[in-house]
Amino acid sequence: MNTKRLSNAMEKALSDQMNKEIHASHVFLSYGIWADDKGYQGIANFLYRHAQEERNHSIKFMEYILNRGGKPKIDAIPAPPADPESLTECFDGVFKHEVDNTTSIYRLVDLSMEEKDWATWNFMQWFVQEQIEEETLAKNLIDKLKIAGGDRATDESLFTLDKTLQETPNDAPLAQEATGEKP
Ligand code: FEO
Repeated sequence: MNTKRLSNAMEKALSDQMNKEIHASHVFLSYGIWADDKGYQGIANFLYRHAQEERNHSIKFMEYILNRGGKPKIDAIPAPPADPESLTECFDGVFKHEVDNTTSIYRLVDLSMEEKDWATWNFMQWFVQEQIEEETLAKNLIDKLKIAGGDRATDESLFTLDKTLQETPNDAPLAQEATGEKP
């Protein structure tokens, strides 16, 4: 008896997303190595933790496909892009990567609606919410660097920024959770 509860198209699309999350993990790992090599250990630590989050996302896709009777397939993962030239380019790259990922998450939501695959639609809502968090986190990086002086930041403000990011949590607070007391 066929126990697969995913269409072939959905199985492939979810598997592609699993590979995309592994690629994202490699991108952030490579940015982390770049930052570490430049002496920004706090920023590197932040990026390494983010790389690990992406890895966790890929595992969620893997588990879901298996749970629904499908078989995920690990593909060749493209090489990460060249090292950034500056912290601005690094943080802009993180933001752009998250926005691109949101686009592919939305495509999966679209496909689940087209197929009336409500189980997958439900599964994908976690990622829709996660992308709000991750885009906010990436946007906060850009804001923090801007406040520190952007590419003209002094060594002292970069030192403080590096230290701040060492301790920055992996999750950004969401608007949905905000109240008057805790804006
Ligand atoms: Fe797995 Fe940053 O999205």
